[in-house]
Amino acid sequence: MAKGKTIYVCSACGGGSPKWVGQCPDCKAWNSLVESIAEAPPANRFSGYAGAASEQGIIDLASVQLEPEKKASTGIGELDRVLGGGLVPGSVILLGGDPGIGKSTLLTQTLGLLSQRMSCLYVSGEESPRQIGLRAQRLELNCERFHLLPETNVERMLALAAQSNPDVIVIDSIQTIYTDLLQSAPGSVAQVRESAAQLVRFAKRSGAAIVLVGHVTKEGALAGPRVLEHMVDTVLYFEGEQGSRFRLIRTIKNRYGAVNELGVFAMTDRGLREVSNPSAIFLSGHKQEVPGSVVMVTREGSRPLLLEVQALVDESRLNNPRRLCVGLEQNRLSMLLAVMHRHAGVVMYDQDVFVNVVGGVRITETAADLPVLLAVLSSLKDRPIPQGTAVFGEVGLAGEIRPVPNGPDRLREAAKHGFKRVIAPMQNISRRDAQDIETIGVERLGEALEAALD
Ligand code: TYD
Ligand code: MG
Repeated sequence: MAKGKTIYVCSACGGGSPKWVGQCPDCKAWNSLVESIAEAPPANRFSGYAGAASEQGIIDLASVQLEPEKKASTGIGELDRVLGGGLVPGSVILLGGDPGIGKSTLLTQTLGLLSQRMSCLYVSGEESPRQIGLRAQRLELNCERFHLLPETNVERMLALAAQSNPDVIVIDSIQTIYTDLLQSAPGSVAQVRESAAQLVRFAKRSGAAIVLVGHVTKEGALAGPRVLEHMVDTVLYFEGEQGSRFRLIRTIKNRYGAVNELGVFAMTDRGLREVSNPSAIFLSGHKQEVPGSVVMVTREGSRPLLLEVQALVDESRLNNPRRLCVGLEQNRLSMLLAVMHRHAGVVMYDQDVFVNVVGGVRITETAADLPVLLAVLSSLKDRPIPQGTAVFGEVGLAGEIRPVPNGPDRLREAAKHGFKRVIAPMQNISRRDAQDIETIGVERLGEALEAALD
């Protein structure tokens, strides 16, 4: 294919320059010029970015067909959960994550299962057929109908895919794919964006579901999957601790389902195994009561989850005492400590505070506020929260305990795992769901601290 003319476009202001320069001539931003195609034929100039646009012109919304999407189950329950039920034909999914976390393993397993029912294609730009074969053998997959394509050129790949017409295509990884239209190296922002645009167009046209594997760089942003998030339908990220056996997949964006859904897997010597009852694994199960440990009931996506929050408070030798969080937002902790100081009179300015959510889960919801404060106080006073207690609740700046969504669900989850007592916002507790669990409704921070430690 002939190389198109390329220009350099500023990613901040959109201004162009025929040559690469360090500073944008228009907006004066530094290092913002990226290579892109100068002249695409006018008819499809923007077609890559408007995946669902068509030639129909203006239509009535009422005339649009509204049958629910047919979602194909992947055969892996936890993966279906984060996908919002299964793979939608014609959708594009981005699976991101650190190197070595298990992206290729998961997708090889998935295609191994899917290829028994539909036609699948695994495009590998990273590993040789032999490496993939060895992995499939280790995973004990049925390789009869597992179609493999070692290819990194997007045009050649799509030409072959158009002939065999697969239902599902996996691209491992988008950073290794390049298009003939651009001269920059594979993995550069321009290449990643243009190759992905072609793949998105192909998916919408052919009805194939495409899964793109994307690496996250150490800095998290450039040339990584970030530029793709707007173009795809679903974004899934692997999270979790490197050392841990458990692998979490979180839905960041989903045009076909809920976001923040969490899928839990365990890495074994035979690949990823799904964990369908994650509450059981995240609780460390201390033999006796320990100060600084609180069990919280969070709700990740559509499922409640019991997690242990640990805090350590230690006298500080620094002018600026340390506030360190793993799995929570740091600023939120500073704010909560200020609330505890003002409304409960607990002084922390001469203490280092460390908070950790066990299991590498990242919590974004406010229901963690009260558990965090109780863990901190328990550590400061060196007094444990009685065993069999679970906690959830948001803390407001005025020292009030605010309700959180799905209270009954959370209470049920705690009861299911044998908890005897739940400390929760008063408004989340109704008389109806008084089961075999003691519920303590609290309205003020002071009340909650008393209820937990007295
Ligand atoms: P991989 O899936 O290649 O990671 P990615 O594609 O995200 O870079 O490999 C994940 C890691 O898992 C690798 O270090 C080897 C390990 N592993 C197992 O522990 N068990 C297995 O069955 C397989 C296939 C890999
Ligand atoms: Mg890989």
